[in-house]
Amino acid sequence: IYGQSKEKTANVMSKENIEAVLKEAYSKFKDVKEGKNADYIKELANVDPNIFGIALVTTDGKVYTIGDYNSMVSIQSISKAFVMAQIIEEDGHQAIQDKIGVDATGMRFNSIVAVEEHKGQEINPLVNPGAIAATSMVKGNDSVAKWESILAKQSEFAGRTLSLNKPVYISEASDNLRNQAIAHLLFSYGRLYFDPIQSTDIYTKQCALNVSAKDLAVMSATLANGGVNPVTKKKVVSPETVMYTLPVMATAGLYDDSGIWFYNSGLPAKSGVGGGIIAVCPGKFGIGVVSPPLDAAGNSLKSQLVIKYVVEKLKANPY
Ligand code: DON
Repeated sequence: IYGQSKEKTANVMSKENIEAVLKEAYSKFKDVKEGKNADYIKELANVDPNIFGIALVTTDGKVYTIGDYNSMVSIQSISKAFVMAQIIEEDGHQAIQDKIGVDATGMRFNSIVAVEEHKGQEINPLVNPGAIAATSMVKGNDSVAKWESILAKQSEFAGRTLSLNKPVYISEASDNLRNQAIAHLLFSYGRLYFDPIQSTDIYTKQCALNVSAKDLAVMSATLANGGVNPVTKKKVVSPETVMYTLPVMATAGLYDDSGIWFYNSGLPAKSGVGGGIIAVCPGKFGIGVVSPPLDAAGNSLKSQLVIKYVVEKLKANPY
């Protein structure tokens, strides 16, 4: 890591120090009450806003946890980073650039204007339009095969078989006309690669997978570890796939607040409206935090505070 002696890095990454830093972060931010659960997906408004879990997994497979690290929330947009990696693995990185795009839109994650402005081009797989397009590209002859393939890959990243949060899925699937409109608009520009209704449905299911802070930390640690899950030791994707996934997380992982996030943390990250955020410190660790109340941009308020604190204390900003 640039500018840091090995000795200093080893010291901050000691078991004692990581445990102490997570404990400090937990007690420092536990009582923060600002933010509000997402409610445009009705079921998310019913999730306990007090869930607060933190987990950090190092690239040598050590797992550190505190708080409600086993409490489940829906993964939502964090799944997008891993579907993106799946497409790069299946079709190569050029396919993402050519068929979806890798530019930050600077607009909200479900912006229709962002699609219309460039006729379905110049978007990226981490906002809804690009994510639905990525899902439409997953290999499989029908929607069942595509869904099973996504579920298998997300599960490999987590190191366990993930399951669907049915109430969240049903709640969003019965009310996602905006995403369906986005999918149809992309299709009309030749930028969606499977049936629009079915692509949106698979995408909605993928967003409704249940994960804990611990699952999220293992998933992000797999990216930090060049695509090998550091807990199961299984190769999930290639180092090259990781190399092309992290830059888009850096430029577009936290919606239209991605710039301010990267400015303050220096780490590629991805948030979801379920309240989770992951951040990846390549070669060192992945962190996953869950706290449902969101800020105005739609990012978990407490999760951002925790990760920024941990990054500072563990000297994890590579710049
Ligand atoms: O499609 C949606 O609106 C949700 N399933 C996911 C949104 C989300 O987490 C924000 N993403 N960038």
